[in-house]
Amino acid sequence: MTTQWTPEIADGVFFVGVRDHERRLFDSLIPLPQGTTYNSHLVRGEEKTALVDTVNPGFESDLLDRVASVCGEEAVDYVIMNHAEPDHAGAIPQVMARYPGATLLAGERGAQMAERYFGVSSTRLKVVDDGEEVNLGKKTLRFLSTPMLHWPETIMTYFVEQRVLFSCDFFGTHTAAGLYAREVPELIPFAKRYFGEIMMPFRAAGRRALERIDKLDIETIAPSHGPVHADPEMIVDSYRHWCAGETGAKATVVYVSMWGSTVRLVRQLTDQLSARGLEVGVHELSTADLGDIARDLVDSRTIVLGSPTVLGGLHPLASHAVNLVAALKPPARYAAFVGSYGWSGGALNQVKQMVEPTGLEIVGGVDIHGPPDATAREEVDALADAIAQAD
Ligand code: FEO
Repeated sequence: MTTQWTPEIADGVFFVGVRDHERRLFDSLIPLPQGTTYNSHLVRGEEKTALVDTVNPGFESDLLDRVASVCGEEAVDYVIMNHAEPDHAGAIPQVMARYPGATLLAGERGAQMAERYFGVSSTRLKVVDDGEEVNLGKKTLRFLSTPMLHWPETIMTYFVEQRVLFSCDFFGTHTAAGLYAREVPELIPFAKRYFGEIMMPFRAAGRRALERIDKLDIETIAPSHGPVHADPEMIVDSYRHWCAGETGAKATVVYVSMWGSTVRLVRQLTDQLSARGLEVGVHELSTADLGDIARDLVDSRTIVLGSPTVLGGLHPLASHAVNLVAALKPPARYAAFVGSYGWSGGALNQVKQMVEPTGLEIVGGVDIHGPPDATAREEVDALADAIAQAD
């Protein structure tokens, strides 16, 4: 057995996960420009050893080699499943087979999922309640029920003596760079895009979790993706703002154009918004990175959609964008539209129908026939006023 890289991130806590530098897409939807990690940690007490989460399918042997590199011939006694999504739970069958004496610990819903998805026998499952502790021998793990962060079965695990919070996806980042947050350039923008992609729809659950986390003495946060936060204040503080849904004088503009009229409207609108002091995030939908859009949506007050009318309605990329907004539930309060049509409109009406269930208030729409003229430019300026003045 070759020695594996298993850095000890806190006394008795070894990183045994995998940094996947090559992965470029998650959920067949989310781009991963810096890859990601599947963080798994081994916690060794004086009498027992626990493995906190596993890794994505395809990396089972990497995980087992690393665990063996730390444990040698000693057994793993507990496998803790904070979350049943396969990027963290996918290696459970192999781990349970390799360590036949191990017991899988999960919340009640998680235990059901472990049986259903990973074939774990009920005889090897133990349900842990909120606040319950397991003693590893002078080392204690406490479980926190944190449903909907971001699945219903999600729990977190707190290592009491070393004050380490294994926070699962919460506080995560999709990047394979670095072991510690201080080693990752642009950590917060990357963490913010992750928040927008994964946690933004669950801000209320996030606020509840933060209230509980505030009561813990935490020295280290070890999420299940991305680097370890050895100075957790910065990421916790960022999450406080993001979970609160705090928005600023900022607009996220997403658009698609076919023959140049819509993009001209977008250019004028974004210039006029900048002239009125707004921060503007602009994304052309045929080339945009969903993560960048999600990052801008985290704290934008207004969302602007630009689309021509195609076949009587929105360009399909624009429809997709509205659907994404409906799914991600950003804290924005206002929406606006700019677009152009060739012989009959339709896009603006479709926007109104699609936006209505989201609760966003439409502060204005500029839907013009053909290329922008002086009248259209005046309408765009008026729309910029309306967006800037929206409270
Ligand atoms: Fe990273 Fe929800 O799994």
